Amino acid sequence: MSQPARPRSALSRLPAFPWDRLEPYKATAAAHPDGIVDLSVGTPVDPVPEVIRRALAGAADRPGYPVVRGTAGLRDAMVAWSGRRLGARGLTHGHVLPVIGSKEFVAWLPTQLGLGAGDRVAFPRLAYPTYEVGARLAGCEPVPYDDPAALDPAGLRLLWLNSPSNPTGRVLGIAELRSAVAWARRHGVLVVSDECYLELGWEGTEPVSALHPEVCGGEPDGVIAVHSLSKRSNLAGYRAAFAVGDAAVLGELLTLRRHGGMMLPAPVQEAMAAALGDDAHVAEQRARYAARRSALRAALLARGFRIEHSEASLYLWATRDEPCWDTVADLSKLGVLVAPGEFYGRAGERCVRVAFTATDERVAEAVRRLS
Ligand SMILES: Cc1ncc(COP(=O)(O)O)c(C=O)c1O
Repeated sequence: MSQPARPRSALSRLPAFPWDRLEPYKATAAAHPDGIVDLSVGTPVDPVPEVIRRALAGAADRPGYPVVRGTAGLRDAMVAWSGRRLGARGLTHGHVLPVIGSKEFVAWLPTQLGLGAGDRVAFPRLAYPTYEVGARLAGCEPVPYDDPAALDPAGLRLLWLNSPSNPTGRVLGIAELRSAVAWARRHGVLVVSDECYLELGWEGTEPVSALHPEVCGGEPDGVIAVHSLSKRSNLAGYRAAFAVGDAAVLGELLTLRRHGGMMLPAPVQEAMAAALGDDAHVAEQRARYAARRSALRAALLARGFRIEHSEASLYLWATRDEPCWDTVADLSKLGVLVAPGEFYGRAGERCVRVAFTATDERVAEAVRRLS
C-alpha cells in the first residue's frame, strides 16, 4: 500500500534531541539507594512566591481572549522594571513585548524576522542550544563565534549575545558589550541579548544589560534584550518572559504574533506584572541559590574539579580535564546527575554543567556524596 504524501517537517533540519542521550546515566543515578540528585536540567524547585500566586488566583475569572501586547498594567511593569533594573532610558509601551517563555522567542525569532536561506545567525561558541535550533528552523546558516567583532558580517542578520552565559556563567563587561553592539550597528546586524540570568550574579563583574546607556548609548535602536521570569521568580511553569528594546522590530513582531495568536494567558499576565513589581522575592531566592552554589562549589573543588568562569547564572562549569561523558558516568554512580558540556558545543567536551537548582536537602546530599 502506498504511503500518503507527507510534507517534510522542519525537524529534518535539527540535530537529535540531546537530553535523550543522558537517559542511561539518569537510570544509573536513580538506582542510588538514597535517590537521585538531579543537577542536570536547571529547573526551579522552590515555591512560587506568594505575591505572584495571589495575583494569578485573583485573575482566575478571565473568560475573554488576552491581548498579545499585554495588559496596560503588564506593559507598565515591563517598562518600569527595565528602567529600574537595566538602567534603560526612554522606554515606552512600544519598546516591550511579552513572550510565552524566552525559549519560544529564541527558537522562533529568526523565522519571525523573515530570515531564511542565505542569511546567517551568530551565537557564542559555547551556548544554550536553542540559538542554533532557531537558526536551523528558519533555514539560516548557524555561525558560532569566539569574538563577535571578528565575525564576517556578510549575510549576518542576527547576533545573539548571552551574558551571564549558559552554560559557563561568564559575564561580559561593559566594554565587551559596547564593542559588540557598536560592531553590529556598524554592519546593520540586529543584536539580541539574552539576559535571563542578569539578576543572578555572584562574584566579579556585575552583569549589565545591552540596554544600559553605557553599552548602547541610551538609544535601543538595533538592540533587543530578552528577559525571563523562569529563574529569578521561580516561574518556569507559568511561561513568562519578555523582549525589550528596538520599537520598530518589536512592533513588527507584535503584529506577526497577533496574526499567530501567540499570547500569554490573562492570569499569567497579572502574575508577571506582580512579579516584576516585587524585588523582595528575588532577593530571597538569590540567597537560597547563593548558599547552594557555595556548598556545591566547595564540594566539587575538594573532589578535584576545577571551576571555570561561573561568576553568575545558576550553574557551575566544572572540569576534571577528562571527556565530559566520563565525568557524567562517574558522578551518576554516586547518584548525582550533571549535564555533559558537549550539549553546549564541541568546545565544552571536557566540562560538565552542574545546576544548583535542587532543594537544600538534595544539595546537601550531593555534597555528602562528593565528600
Ligand atoms: C540562556 C537561556 N535562554 C533562555 C532560556 C529559556 O528560559 P525560559 O523559556 O524558561 O524563559 C534558558 C533556560 O534555561 C537559558 O538558559
